[in-house]
Amino acid sequence: MSIGARARLNELLLIVITAIGLFAMVSSLAFVLQPEPSAPGLPEPSTNVIAAVAAPDIGEFARKGADLFARNCAHCHGDDARGDEGPSLYGLRKSDARITTIVMEGIKGEMPKFGSKFGDSDIQALIAYLRTLKE
Ligand code: HEC
Repeated sequence: MSIGARARLNELLLIVITAIGLFAMVSSLAFVLQPEPSAPGLPEPSTNVIAAVAAPDIGEFARKGADLFARNCAHCHGDDARGDEGPSLYGLRKSDARITTIVMEGIKGEMPKFGSKFGDSDIQALIAYLRTLKE
């Protein structure tokens, strides 16, 4: 390989490494800036429409669930959980354990799994929210 070609290769390598470094920096920053799942009972300021509308009487914990719902479930189950691509979640007759399994493991070909995304307190908050949806 000629010296010129080698120099150009080195330059290219430097650009690639810089790009990777930048990407890593930006993604770790995005990770750090992600809202931490807060402990149960700690209010989370929310700009979400559902959470804001539902806020007065469902309690802080369920409101956190409503917020999680809006961000993760609403595009299938409807903004108001009355159903869209997925079924309405009003008046669910399933146990907490069953709902937990559905959300954590998903439903093959129908609903994604959220096991790696949600912690226990997130699931509890989601269920608290779902329990406010009475027919
Ligand atoms: C990609 C679309 C999609 C997303 C996202 C989604 N779901 Fe579903 N969900 C479905 C579908 C479709 C079904 C019905 C599957 C079936 O009946 O076999 C379902 C079923 C359910 C059920 C069972 C309802 C019943 O009456 O049996 C629950 C509970 C549920 N989803 C909760 C959630 C929650 C909570 C979230 C967000 C964390 C969520 N889903 C996100 C599509 C989705």
